[in-house]
Amino acid sequence: MDADELVFLAQKAKENAYAPYSNFRVGAALLDSLGKIHTGCNIENASLGATNCAERTAIFKAVSYGIRNFEAIAIASDSKDLIFPCGICRQVIAEFGIERIIVSKDDGTFKEYSLEDLLPYSFRGYD
Ligand code: THU
Repeated sequence: MDADELVFLAQKAKENAYAPYSNFRVGAALLDSLGKIHTGCNIENASLGATNCAERTAIFKAVSYGIRNFEAIAIASDSKDLIFPCGICRQVIAEFGIERIIVSKDDGTFKEYSLEDLLPYSFRGYD
C-alpha cells in the first residue's frame, strides 16, 4: 500500500475522533505485515489524562486482535502543519517496531520518517 493511501485512511479515521475538549481531531491508519489496515482516532476524557491518542488507539486495537507485526503508520489531523506522534505514542510505536511513520498535513501532503528518526536511543526494556 502506498503512503498516500494510508494517509487517506488516516484522514477518514479522523472523522470518528472524540475530541470535545481540544477540538483537535486526529486519525491514524496502521498497516500490518499481512496488508491489513487498523484505524484509530483520539478519544478524549473529562479527566484529560485519560485521553487516548489516535496512534495508540490503532495499535491497541490491532494488538487486541492478536496482530503484532506492522509495516507503517500514517497520522492525520486538521492542522496545516505536519502532525507528529507524541512521546508516549513514539514509545508504543517503538515497542512494536513500526519502522515507517508517515506524518501529514490537512491537505494530505505528507513526509515519512523512520522510527530511529523520531525516537533515537529508545528504552527497549531491561535484563
Ligand atoms: N493527539 C493524538 O491523537 N495524537 C498525537 O500524536 C498528538 C495528540 C491528540 C490527543 C488529544 O486528544 C489531542 O490530540 C490534543 O492533544
